[in-house]
Amino acid sequence: MKLDYLLSKELARRMILVHPPEPRKEMLISPPSEGVYIGKTRFLRTPVFWNPTKLINPHVAIMGITGSGKSYLVKTFLTRASLIWNSNAIIIDWVGEYEKWVKQAGGRVINLAKERLNILDLVGLPKTSRIKQIVSALDILADLKSYPNERDEIEEALEQIYENYDGKKTLKEVAELLESRNKKKAARLLRRFTTEGTDFFSGTTTMDIKKLTTSGLVCIDLHELPTEEMRSLAGLTILQYIKELMRLEGMKKDNSKVRLFVVLDEAWKIAQDERSDVITIVREGRKYNFSLVIATQNPTDMHKTIFSNIGTVFVLRLVLKEFRDYVRNSIGYSEFIDDEISRFGVGDAAINMIFAQRQAKVMTFLMDKIDGEEPLFTYTIKGGEMDVEIEREQFVRMLYELGLNESQLSIVKTEFEKKDGTLDGEALVAVLEKFGYSRSSIISFLRQLGIDEKNLIRVFSLLKMRKATKGVVNLVLR
Ligand SMILES: Nc1ncnc2c1ncn2[C@@H]1O[C@H](COP(=O)(O)OP(=O)(O)OP(=O)(O)O)[C@@H](O)[C@H]1O
Ligand SMILES: [Mg+2]
Repeated sequence: MKLDYLLSKELARRMILVHPPEPRKEMLISPPSEGVYIGKTRFLRTPVFWNPTKLINPHVAIMGITGSGKSYLVKTFLTRASLIWNSNAIIIDWVGEYEKWVKQAGGRVINLAKERLNILDLVGLPKTSRIKQIVSALDILADLKSYPNERDEIEEALEQIYENYDGKKTLKEVAELLESRNKKKAARLLRRFTTEGTDFFSGTTTMDIKKLTTSGLVCIDLHELPTEEMRSLAGLTILQYIKELMRLEGMKKDNSKVRLFVVLDEAWKIAQDERSDVITIVREGRKYNFSLVIATQNPTDMHKTIFSNIGTVFVLRLVLKEFRDYVRNSIGYSEFIDDEISRFGVGDAAINMIFAQRQAKVMTFLMDKIDGEEPLFTYTIKGGEMDVEIEREQFVRMLYELGLNESQLSIVKTEFEKKDGTLDGEALVAVLEKFGYSRSSIISFLRQLGIDEKNLIRVFSLLKMRKATKGVVNLVLR
């Protein structure tokens, strides 16, 4: 009797110690026709469904280092959402990583470098509002606020151009007008968006954004635009249009399905600025059933307003302490979870969901591997006391970028395959050294893989030890 009692007490104590709490089951589980399945919680193996009716708003943020699985999650998520709600999605693709998938999924890819977008288009707005928007985009991109005189001059020129606007005039005419008025500096500020090769925004618009918001899956590929500035202007302009469309369409009472997902992957510049429409969409999107999905490698890029207004946050692997602290301060979770985040493998996630219904405090929970649609081939690198898991293709790409040639790549691959996809950090360093890489370039490569300083030291001291005791790193290099 006493033993029984002790045991059950001990057991109860352990149950608490064994795992941190997870949200109540009924918050996480939904019928498959009402929520997007994501995966199972780590400890209680509760299936997790993303259900907008249970959440405070339909916005999603995803953060994690390169290769941690952000885009994979976006793809899995959108695929399932479109099956359930037949929802539309516009992906604003900074780096051009969605093209293949969108095509495979039967969606449309629009290469913006081959299109024109007349930034003067009114898209149903009164002229004064559109002028404000254009000036605000230029505030962000050309730092117009620092040139108050030129800012006024540009605004005046825009007003004049709009006076008898035929829908054909472009930013080019605005720059010419300024030129003719001898406002050289103001004209120069605009020229960077109007000269040949950078005139994507000063031609007749070739794409119908309104139609694109109701065309299923659409990827607007920005990566061929020549500069970061161009990509940002495109991103901002498209968001401005989407925001207007959203407001025009009016509010929706029923929030059980999302009408449009607006996806921003790596949109650092436009997510940082308070004036950007990313923020408006976050603030107002819920009323219109518009959902913002924003992914980034660097959470500090995300403006605080965005962070504090997002119902679902996925934190994938984050290594840098500074980034982890920023996230932890914004959404708040235990040190245990913070520590786990630094050691996540590909696809592992800490998820923070703010439910519409009042809940006890537990909002962040762990998930082993987002349950996606593609097979995963991963490699594990044993780096000191930590294991770094990385997807094979990603790793090969990184080695390629490091400068390895085909035969060197296949040597590395063979080393991994010999041990079922696992290799000691020291062994990896030894191979790279034999290929002629310097200590410092190897160190920065290991850092890129996510091995932290403490373990870097371990890897190198292990290597030294093995060299001293001779030949344990016995790689055959042909
Ligand atoms: N949950 C998962 N299950 C299976 N495979 C995954 C998972 N997450 C990611 N992967 C695989 O890992 C690789 C890297 O993922 P992904 O491209 O999504 O990374 P990312 O975080 O978007 O990186 P980047 O910041 O460089 O764009 C992909 O090849 C993907 O197929
Ligand atoms: Mg990605």
